Amino acid sequence: MDISIAGSELEFDQIAGWKIVGQMLEKVDSVIGLSTGQTTGAMHRMVAELHARHPFDVSQITLFGLDEVNEVPSGFPATCAELLLDEIVRPIGLPLANFLMPDADCGRIEAELQLRGGIDLLMLGIGTDGHLGMNMPGTPFESDTHCTKLRGEMEHRIRSRYVYPEPNPLSGITLGIRTIMRARHIVLVAKGTHKAEIVERALKGPIVPEVPASVLQLHPNCEFLLDPEAGARVRDMA
Ligand code: PGA
Repeated sequence: MDISIAGSELEFDQIAGWKIVGQMLEKVDSVIGLSTGQTTGAMHRMVAELHARHPFDVSQITLFGLDEVNEVPSGFPATCAELLLDEIVRPIGLPLANFLMPDADCGRIEAELQLRGGIDLLMLGIGTDGHLGMNMPGTPFESDTHCTKLRGEMEHRIRSRYVYPEPNPLSGITLGIRTIMRARHIVLVAKGTHKAEIVERALKGPIVPEVPASVLQLHPNCEFLLDPEAGARVRDMA
């Protein structure tokens, strides 16, 4: 496992942004998975900035979102799809036919990703409870794309960040752990002091479904990119 600790938040965003751009340049029909949240917005905007400065062809690139919240009106600004459209898809001019999101027909995105040759690069965030996408603690490692109820930290985080119109419990659709593990290259990104403990557990703790991110220890081509705060407890591994 390759662990990098960036010197600053800006350096973190630049390294992460270049990893996505590098993949796009290396393989013109790359299939790249993205996550939404506090950690990834700036790196997506970095990709848009790099593309504006040094334009390159993205007509054959596929971008897809790792997960989506259910039960909100389509076009609601805080859906994962809308965030990705704003942060990266529209700014780089990606054809919308090449932008995929998981939906209630869970098999559809699995089939579409296979058709396009499988996932070349998957950028993952991590929750403070170790969730990956919306694979909450306890999700079986052999899960494919599935619907999931959001709870605990994840539900609180989403509700506190955006005003969701529905009062009901939130649910979502997420690529499963098995689908994630099929990606040829995974980069997990984490920023901030509040991520330091879970990063340590994911990297050094037992590989158990209670900490979904711990499964990444088994991936043959996974790296962690951390800012100084998130990497504070794993400096010995960097
Ligand atoms: P965050 O979300 O970047 O907003 O902390 C990460 C995640 O839940 O995957």
